[in-house]
Amino acid sequence: MTERLASNDASFVSQWERYKERANQQLDRVFSELPAGATRGLGKAMRYSTLNGGKRFRAMLVYASGACFGASTRSLDAPAVALELIHAYSLVHDDLPAMDDDDLRRGRASCHIEFDEATAILVGDALQSFAFDLLAEQSKFLNATQQLKMVRQLAAASGIAGMAGGQSLDIFATGQTLDQASLQVIHEKKTGALIRAALHLGALAAPDISDRDLSIIDEYGRLIGLAFQVVDDILDQTQTSKQLGKQSGADTAMDKNTYPALLGLTASQQYADQLVQSAQQSLVKLGRDTDFLHQLAEFTRFRDH
Ligand code: IPE
Ligand code: IPE
Ligand code: MG
Ligand code: MG
Ligand code: MG
Repeated sequence: MTERLASNDASFVSQWERYKERANQQLDRVFSELPAGATRGLGKAMRYSTLNGGKRFRAMLVYASGACFGASTRSLDAPAVALELIHAYSLVHDDLPAMDDDDLRRGRASCHIEFDEATAILVGDALQSFAFDLLAEQSKFLNATQQLKMVRQLAAASGIAGMAGGQSLDIFATGQTLDQASLQVIHEKKTGALIRAALHLGALAAPDISDRDLSIIDEYGRLIGLAFQVVDDILDQTQTSKQLGKQSGADTAMDKNTYPALLGLTASQQYADQLVQSAQQSLVKLGRDTDFLHQLAEFTRFRDH
């Protein structure tokens, strides 16, 4: 599916396409390097759940952040792929009957529908291990200290302090009415943490990244990560299933805590706009060429799926 990019800027659009293409090629490559047996059974289901479209937004953030700080594109392939594998795992589990019970993902049957529930659980497990295996693999482009920092950062963002913790809060708050501060915590963890980690890992690939730069890119990541999920909540109410490639109206049907349910659609969009503007302001502090990151922030609020 083609994304609505909110920008006609030719250099932004072509850079977006290049990064997306690179992410897809790298994902194809890592699967093609698995043993031949991995084309059947669990391996087939892993491919089905990963090489199935997707905007590759987290990979894009890795490439964009790394490029901003002077990392080579080749040094960013492993973290970009790792982020997309963890993200794909989170979607497969998110769709399970015990979680959001969604049958449609990226315009196709969800993993547990195409295969079965046991396979979908194992796909998530195996994608997660695969991500860390690739990140820790001997590299010509990253040193061991960089790799170790990336492993820790991605582990923290995926686990109880990040995505899995946020998913748990999301599930157990379903049907209860939360205040905005509690909803923010859920969204920052379940979705924001991986988006933030993508930017952080990209920056860690740069030869000399300062703590100051890391904290600025972290702040940008926190803001666009939250905005990304606020907009996901809005799109669930405003788009069709066909446009989204996933069931629309699912949040209301499940009585989920979302920004539109709490604030209404207009205030939710205004909130996302504010978050994006703050994110863009924080980029200025870097004193670098941040055009592409600026436009990526813009994408998070204007996207249509
Ligand atoms: C969907 O993420 C789930 C969330 C964390 C909001 P994306 O909107 O990035 O989904 P894909 O990867 O493009 O399918
Ligand atoms: C997704 O939140 C968070 C994940 C960690 C996958 P949602 O449950 O709103 O994501 P979609 O709308 O199903 O993609
Ligand atoms: Mg969910
Ligand atoms: Mg869901
Ligand atoms: Mg959603």
